[in-house]
Amino acid sequence: METIHQNVSLAFRYPVYFTEGVFEPDNPVLASTISSAEEGGPHKLLFVLDRGICDRRPGLVQQIEAYCAAHPNLELARPPLIVPGGEGVKNTPQYVNVVLEAISEFGLCRHSYVVVAGGGAVLDMAGYAASTAHRGVRLIRIPTTVLSQNDSGIGVKNFLGVFAPPHAVINDFAFLSTLVDRDWRSGIAEAVKVALIKDASFFEFLEEHAHGLATRESTPMRRLIHRCAELHLHHIASGGDPFEAGSARPLDFGHWSAHKLEQMTRFRLRHGEAVAIGMALDATYSCLSGMLPEADWRRILALLEDVGFELYVPELGGPLSRSEPESLLHGLTEFREHLGGRLSITLLEGIGRGVEAHEMEDELIRDSIAELASAATQARRRAV
Ligand SMILES: NC(=O)c1ccc[n+]([C@@H]2O[C@H](COP(=O)([O-])OP(=O)(O)OC[C@H]3O[C@@H](n4cnc5c(N)ncnc54)[C@H](O)[C@@H]3O)[C@@H](O)[C@H]2O)c1
Ligand SMILES: [Zn+2]
Repeated sequence: METIHQNVSLAFRYPVYFTEGVFEPDNPVLASTISSAEEGGPHKLLFVLDRGICDRRPGLVQQIEAYCAAHPNLELARPPLIVPGGEGVKNTPQYVNVVLEAISEFGLCRHSYVVVAGGGAVLDMAGYAASTAHRGVRLIRIPTTVLSQNDSGIGVKNFLGVFAPPHAVINDFAFLSTLVDRDWRSGIAEAVKVALIKDASFFEFLEEHAHGLATRESTPMRRLIHRCAELHLHHIASGGDPFEAGSARPLDFGHWSAHKLEQMTRFRLRHGEAVAIGMALDATYSCLSGMLPEADWRRILALLEDVGFELYVPELGGPLSRSEPESLLHGLTEFREHLGGRLSITLLEGIGRGVEAHEMEDELIRDSIAELASAATQARRRAV
């Protein structure tokens, strides 16, 4: 019998809003994104909240309850679930199960919504649960850290293992004011990343505003988040591989070593802090291999330092061997396995110009680490 070749094309559309005070009674964004989806209602909502935001904003739960009470198309399925923030929430199935149980207990269907507000870790956890319940309950993400507003919370994937585009993303700048300095800074690394691989004028903007960004000025931060989100979303939509079937991953610039460093430091480093080091390493490698002009390399390190990143950690000085699981170089092996197929690393040939490479030389990686160690010593001397 003849083979039938099935072909299904799907278009995914979702808005990424930028607002302030999403749960203020007169803020229309959340209510209108739900009622614009279809007629009828009310729609059941299950809120999942990062404890980090609840602790710093007493009254948040009551504010959400009042918002839903004031909008007849929104029905709270149960009081908001509050889960711990940060990496721990992803490292056990416990919280995914709590969300799944609430979805089932309160009768959420595929026309209901999980609304999750929090950092990237909580968004990943609740997004994973929502995407597996009933083959996908609608998800509205309200990212509350810089990194989740400009990178992890706006895309189509989730680090717990599924591709699942959200129904909508609502970036509320007001949440950023309660971040600790580390979490404010951490997300800036992803903006430097997209600037380096795609947009030299965005890099210049970041250089010009490095001091303001480091001292928590909100105007440049809002512009940073908007531009960084725009570049990420554009890449996902037009890069030709939204669900990452191939092995090229330009948005993973600096990430092969960053993922390994997060692991090696037992998550002492935040994701963005590890990415800053990973980018410094791959920029240094690009320079030492003759691809990137030295003047560009100096600008890259200077920007990362001006924003306040430390570009060297003792773990970089450990053994360097690809077969040793505890070695940084093992990160290359893990990255290749994760991509599937061929190793594909983004390096730089200029600011705003990423290039794909398929191998890295161990000797040059060693030299790059030594360069970073000496640059860090000089930076410390300048600081005293
Ligand atoms: N899905 C993706 O594509 C993707 C991409 C990159 C990273 N990630 C994941 O994102 C996570 C990192 O996300 P992150 O940088 O947002 O950190 P995070 O989620 O670990 O949060 C850091 C801390 O900030 C707290 N917090 C959150 N919002 C706050 C606020 N407004 N005020 C005060 N404290 C607040 C949290 O409680 C937590 O303690 C990692 O788990 C990483 O794997 C996912
Ligand atoms: Zn990242």
